[in-house]
Amino acid sequence: MKMKELKFQLLFIFLCALAFCCLCTATYSDGLMRIGLRKRQLDLDTLTAARTLRGRSAGRLRSSHLNGDSDVDIVHLKNYLDAQYFGVISIGTPPQNFTVVFDTGSSNLWVPSSKCYFSIACYLHGRYKASQSHTYIQNGKTCSIHYGSGSISGFFSQDNVQVGDLVVKDQVFIEATREGSLTFVLAKFDGILGLGFQEISVGNVTPVWYNMVDQGLVSEKVFSFWINRNQEAEDGGELVFGGVDPKHFKGEHTYVPVTRKGYWQLEMGDFLIGNHSTGFCKGGCAAIVDSGTSLLAGPTTVITQINHAIGAEGVLSMECKTVVSQYADLIWDLLTSGIQPELVCSQIGLCNFNGAHQASDGIEMVVDKQSMEGSANGQDILCTACEMAIVWIQNELRLNQTKELVFKYVNELCESLPSPMGESTIDCNDIGKMPNVSFTIGGKSFVLTPEQYILKVGEGDVAICISGFIALDVPRPRGPLWILGDVFMGAYHTVFDSGNLQIGFAEAA
Ligand SMILES: *[C@@H]1O[C@H](CO)[C@@H](O)[C@H](O)[C@H]1NC(C)=O
Ligand SMILES: *[C@@H]1O[C@H](CO)[C@@H](O)[C@H](O)[C@H]1NC(C)=O
Ligand SMILES: *[C@@H]1O[C@H](CO)[C@@H](O)[C@H](O)[C@H]1NC(C)=O
Ligand SMILES: *[C@@H]1O[C@H](CO)[C@@H](O)[C@H](O)[C@H]1NC(C)=O
Repeated sequence: MKMKELKFQLLFIFLCALAFCCLCTATYSDGLMRIGLRKRQLDLDTLTAARTLRGRSAGRLRSSHLNGDSDVDIVHLKNYLDAQYFGVISIGTPPQNFTVVFDTGSSNLWVPSSKCYFSIACYLHGRYKASQSHTYIQNGKTCSIHYGSGSISGFFSQDNVQVGDLVVKDQVFIEATREGSLTFVLAKFDGILGLGFQEISVGNVTPVWYNMVDQGLVSEKVFSFWINRNQEAEDGGELVFGGVDPKHFKGEHTYVPVTRKGYWQLEMGDFLIGNHSTGFCKGGCAAIVDSGTSLLAGPTTVITQINHAIGAEGVLSMECKTVVSQYADLIWDLLTSGIQPELVCSQIGLCNFNGAHQASDGIEMVVDKQSMEGSANGQDILCTACEMAIVWIQNELRLNQTKELVFKYVNELCESLPSPMGESTIDCNDIGKMPNVSFTIGGKSFVLTPEQYILKVGEGDVAICISGFIALDVPRPRGPLWILGDVFMGAYHTVFDSGNLQIGFAEAA
């Protein structure tokens, strides 16, 4: 049975990176970090394959009491191919059920509207009918949200929302009247329930979690996620509002502060491949914990090294090799002469003096991976290649390698450059030989084994293996940024503590 499923569609979702609301409100201008990610083709082989689009086998929703604490609410999640995790909520009186992704990378709730006439996605999913709810309150202000996987637009409405056993009163949410992405057409979920901070809520709407706390529905200002990476298991995972389920972690949580409210953002230290420091985040990198993103996204500079280490096929990059072959001696001389590494690429004329990739003012950035692809101007591509080469070379220099060895390695890395915004497939037989990778968070090492960071789709000879890492570049000063998606959260039970503004991780169980 499974063997036949070679034409598997794997829908990776990428919900973080909420961009901006254009129409909702005039007061939406603040100093927030917003990453407008390009819509990307995240589907593997998807688009041809037929699928029972109606097969919305709604995630089971069941609530129970935990340790006799009545102020805890449990939502059971359903796991679809390790790429989508969702659960059921209901809106209105009498309740209308919807399957939603619980997304810590955005802060609004939306479901398709019965007034959505022109988007296929709406017809394939449950739609909210305001006229059939006697707790509905009209609002009507229009708005739109841009996610990494596509955008939606619609208008605000207000109604009661039931999550698990809890009824959140007077929740403002979006009735989507347009869903502009194939991701949403193929999605197993109807809508999205954002669990991020109000700072990134479109229309500055009070998020569901805030109302849950304000209405006294939970005793502790904490919610926690357990994501089950076992696709066969009945239970896809568990989201607990108001507490932590001791059944689903081992040992103690390591807590780190939220460094920026908006996303659940934290400061991350060095990233290691095997025992080898990549050096890239030694001085600290920002990371956001995002249950709405399927994979793990990180800077191209590091992802390329991972690809190299795990033998992932990459796109041969002429630009990268050009820099290495033509500028190697110059770069070497400059780096060993003690010049500031950040200045090297501008000194040799490959980057603008300030660095072509510096964010202008950082208020709002567009993550533009396309510039790696060759559509952008050549100057930019060479600059990017040069900047990556500098990081790699510096790291090798620390190991006292000879010039020849350093450039041999850097040249190899050029071949492992990930295809722009694409996943990398690898040979499943090599999983046993791949190194562990580790993230340093709160001074502690969080290891991912190959079994955890490689996604295996299908079985036996027809299995396809995909690297759980994808490249994403956010310019300084906001970047470099990591997105710790489901691949990471599957390995580490995560506590989102909004009372103390901290995030905790412990080994999942
Ligand atoms: C909505 O979900 C609840 C809980 O799973 C279920 O009991 C109820 O029958 C569902 N209602 C509809 C109309 O499907
Ligand atoms: C990593 O380091 C540990 C201890 O420092 C050592 O035992 C182990 O063999 C090293 N592994 C590799 C792959 O180098
Ligand atoms: C690299 O070489 C320098 C001088 O030759 C030496 O002082 C330093 O300890 C070496 N570093 C490593 C990591 O071997
Ligand atoms: C990888 O990590 C796992 C779990 O931490 C550990 O058991 C294993 O020995 C590690 N493998 C290597 C090659 O270091």
